[in-house]
Amino acid sequence: MEASKFLWVILVVLGTAVTLNNEGVEASHKVYREFESFEAVKVKQLHRTGFHFQPKKHWINGPMYYNGIYHLFYQYNPKGAVWGNIVWAHSVSTDMINWKPLDPAIYPSKPFDQFGCWSGSATILPGNKPIILYTGIVDQNNTQVQNYAIPANYSDPYLQEWVKPDSNPLVSAEMGVNGSAFRDPTTAWWGKDGHWRIVVGSRRGQRGMVYLYRSRDFMKWTKAKHPLHSSAKSGMWECPDFYPVSLHGETGLETSVVEGNIKHVFKVSLDLTRYDYYTIGTYIQEKDRYVPDNTSVDGWAGLRYDYGNFYASKTFYDAGKNRRILWGWANESDTAHEDVQKGWAGIQTIPRMVWLDKSGKQLLQWPIEELETLRGRKVHLKNKKLNLGDRFEIKGITAAQADVEVTFAFQSLDKAEKFDPSWEDMDAQQICSHKGSTVEGGVGPFGLLTLASKHLEEYTPVFFRVFKRQDKHVVLLCSDATSSSLNEKPYKPSFAGFVDVDLTHKKLSLRSLIDHSVVESFGAGGKTCITSRVYPTVAVSNNAHLFAFNNGTESVKVESLHAWSMNKPLLMN
Ligand SMILES: *[C@@H]1O[C@H](CO)[C@@H](O)[C@H](O)[C@H]1NC(C)=O
Ligand SMILES: *[C@@H]1O[C@H](CO)[C@@H](O)[C@H](O)[C@H]1NC(C)=O
Ligand SMILES: *[C@@H]1O[C@H](CO)[C@@H](O)[C@H](O)[C@H]1NC(C)=O
Ligand SMILES: *[C@@H]1O[C@H](CO)[C@@H](O)[C@H](O)[C@H]1NC(C)=O
Ligand SMILES: *[C@@H]1O[C@H](CO)[C@@H](O)[C@H](O)[C@H]1NC(C)=O
Ligand SMILES: *[C@@H]1O[C@H](CO)[C@@H](O)[C@H](O)[C@H]1NC(C)=O
Repeated sequence: MEASKFLWVILVVLGTAVTLNNEGVEASHKVYREFESFEAVKVKQLHRTGFHFQPKKHWINGPMYYNGIYHLFYQYNPKGAVWGNIVWAHSVSTDMINWKPLDPAIYPSKPFDQFGCWSGSATILPGNKPIILYTGIVDQNNTQVQNYAIPANYSDPYLQEWVKPDSNPLVSAEMGVNGSAFRDPTTAWWGKDGHWRIVVGSRRGQRGMVYLYRSRDFMKWTKAKHPLHSSAKSGMWECPDFYPVSLHGETGLETSVVEGNIKHVFKVSLDLTRYDYYTIGTYIQEKDRYVPDNTSVDGWAGLRYDYGNFYASKTFYDAGKNRRILWGWANESDTAHEDVQKGWAGIQTIPRMVWLDKSGKQLLQWPIEELETLRGRKVHLKNKKLNLGDRFEIKGITAAQADVEVTFAFQSLDKAEKFDPSWEDMDAQQICSHKGSTVEGGVGPFGLLTLASKHLEEYTPVFFRVFKRQDKHVVLLCSDATSSSLNEKPYKPSFAGFVDVDLTHKKLSLRSLIDHSVVESFGAGGKTCITSRVYPTVAVSNNAHLFAFNNGTESVKVESLHAWSMNKPLLMN
């Protein structure tokens, strides 16, 4: 719950919505009419994850929490493994690891949502009363309005049944607002002037923006004259998220905290690129405007929560443990046909705690501590040297379902490769596609070869590479799916991000969560995170291996490595 003294805001929710192109067809979530209600009879287990959240079958995408119980609401197609027929599915948990599925919380049934129940958020009102705001689709033109739903029975600890009062919709697009690009209301925050506030994602032409609405009673909402924030040429802003972070330490803050030693984070899911971007900045309460710091770039040159498959994320304040939790949706990288064959599509990433880095310039992210309860058999190695071209296998764990933490150390940065000036306009992913793990370097590439077949016909390397640019070093973290599968069909990007890390101690740490078809990695203590979806054909189950490698001329020492087999949760939908 999130509260400012007596106000509890909450939990929740959800995933992405959908986007329409000019033909009125969904652009980025492609609509496969022929499949959207194609019931999966058999669920293929190959590539199904062991400890990541996914429903028994079909298509999901988004999340979250309340009153000692974590609620996960997610956009779900009950009838097929591709996008369509979207409802708010609902699962509950006490640890965010074990989940109990419930009936859908919200599904199309009223004139104000009969063509769809898309993303939104929950807020807890005074008196500990949760309320969900969500986007309803009212016609075949995908006209969007903002609705609310409340629990039928506040005494039900699981809040299983939700009611959508006939006073909906709460907010419709007024003149000047594009009603087909008007969705994903945020968790509300409360200002000292006694007004609640929410923002709703939109665009005007190609200018992405969030409209700001205010209300005293949560029922009558008035649009502010100006958006809370906007940015030219960034296209539609989906699933906005706006929350405070403390300047000091890891403790999370309720969404209604608007002053003190804090910064604000503003995140949007950019429909044009399908990635989640954030800035760190200041919320000027008197003017109701958000201004990013001059160290934070708006738009797709900016910071990302994750440089891989990660979209439509949301955070919530977990009052139980005073932390802010981030949850994203990792879609599939195979084809829609394969999803239909598999009978399922989409997983949630492992919930991550988020807090502000000491530099004040970026966030740090780390898997929630509850995940560690799934750790089983462990191996520990230390001080193993890796010269140019060396690798060794980490044996004794289930390499297809594992958690690995490793620290690499090196003696000198002298051999770091020169950062080619022609790369200045490239992003990290483009550089990684030129400088893969098999391209010999100076300091790096070194890291892990995950989901690897014995003879490396298939492997997904996660590795660092250090470059010298004038007198500054540039550190690249790659999670490269290029060689992940002998199957040619899936999308196999060389995902990568830069790591803004201090190299004084000549060490770089990496944690990777490996789970059959996903490798979720955290570089330098969570400064740079990358999630890859991969579909090995040989490196599956007991035929998957894990190696540490170095292909740089500077020798590297695995100073310490801990790896665990991961168990499945006892309860998972
Ligand atoms: C309104 O949004 C829809 C969906 O994004 C788009 O197709 C349409 O061009 C927009 N209309 C205007 C006037 O921008
Ligand atoms: C899935 O993710 C990839 C990478 O983010 C993206 O290219 C693709 O458009 C996404 N697909 C859907 C259906 O969102
Ligand atoms: C959908 O939009 C078209 C074109 O603007 C319009 O003619 C039609 O009446 C709309 N349909 C509905 C159900 O609003
Ligand atoms: C509300 O939930 C409580 C706790 O589960 C239950 O005892 C009670 O019967 C429910 N009330 C109604 C009207 O269903
Ligand atoms: C960025 O903002 C800080 C204060 O927040 C200021 O000290 C600094 O000069 C600014 N830098 C630039 C390049 O504008
Ligand atoms: C190391 O680099 C060399 C030269 O590019 C390459 O042939 C070799 O396959 C690489 N080794 C590994 C383990 O990636």
